[in-house]
Amino acid sequence: MRMRVIVTGAASGIGLATAKRFAAAGARVLMADRDAAVRERAAEVPEAVASVGDLEQPETPARIVAAAVEALGGLDVLVSNAGVNLKAALAEFTVEEWDRVQAVNTRATWALGVAALPHLRESGGSIVATTSVAGHNPTPMCGAYSVSKAAQIMLVRQMALEWGPLGVRANCVSPGSVPTSMSPERYQTEEGLALARSRNPLGRLGTPEDIAEAIFYLASPAAAFITGAEIVVDGGMQVTLAQRGAAGLTRS
Ligand SMILES: NC(=O)c1ccc[n+]([C@@H]2O[C@H](COP(=O)([O-])OP(=O)(O)OC[C@H]3O[C@@H](n4cnc5c(N)ncnc54)[C@H](O)[C@@H]3O)[C@@H](O)[C@H]2O)c1
Repeated sequence: MRMRVIVTGAASGIGLATAKRFAAAGARVLMADRDAAVRERAAEVPEAVASVGDLEQPETPARIVAAAVEALGGLDVLVSNAGVNLKAALAEFTVEEWDRVQAVNTRATWALGVAALPHLRESGGSIVATTSVAGHNPTPMCGAYSVSKAAQIMLVRQMALEWGPLGVRANCVSPGSVPTSMSPERYQTEEGLALARSRNPLGRLGTPEDIAEAIFYLASPAAAFITGAEIVVDGGMQVTLAQRGAAGLTRS
């Protein structure tokens, strides 16, 4: 049977590439985003349907799942991909900014999973979240984001523990640096791009398609025995972190 899939954050970047990857394999996809442009993007993806809603609102996750079940006749895969990164030094965040990042990145993944659970139990389906290498590495000006991503990685493992016995798998994919609308300023100059490439042993930045491929794999029958796992898709960026840290230490 054709896979029935929800992808959140599907108006652009990794989510859009993921929706296209599933559609290319014959899946039917509900593409969700707070950006109404998701309707136009969905029109470009074979047989996709769109759902517009803000995941910061507590009622949105259940609405997205209900819309998908109605439009697709059930659910096999939930890709919780929508994310937000508000930048500030730890001491400078407002409570509203802090809460917004946790709500979209972590709470919505939990609430989407809870709403999807009965349907995924029925289909023997799975959940894949887009997490981040920032969930392992403190990142300047991204304190709310890195904390939310660390929590999201643990959430996926908790889902795997509690929902594995129900026949539902949960995994995540952690990208490194992928030029998307999420981090535009970093990639606006040739200097910034060169720095990002130099931090990567493979010498190039990731693409949304690189990430989509790993998400697709984890959701596919080929990964039937994989749950509670994280695939880091960063071109090796993480393995350079220790080296960079050492280079930054100056002791005389
Ligand atoms: N680009 C990177 O380098 C990178 C690295 C690590 C992790 N990620 C993660 O990848 C995921 C996708 O990000 P991307 O890089 O494709 O960026 P993106 O900005 O292109 O896509 C994010 C999408 O999420 C949507 N979104 C944001 N807040 C929302 C909300 N409240 N409700 C509904 N939708 C909302 C946006 O409208 C957007 O379409 C995110 O979870 C991000 O944290 C990205």
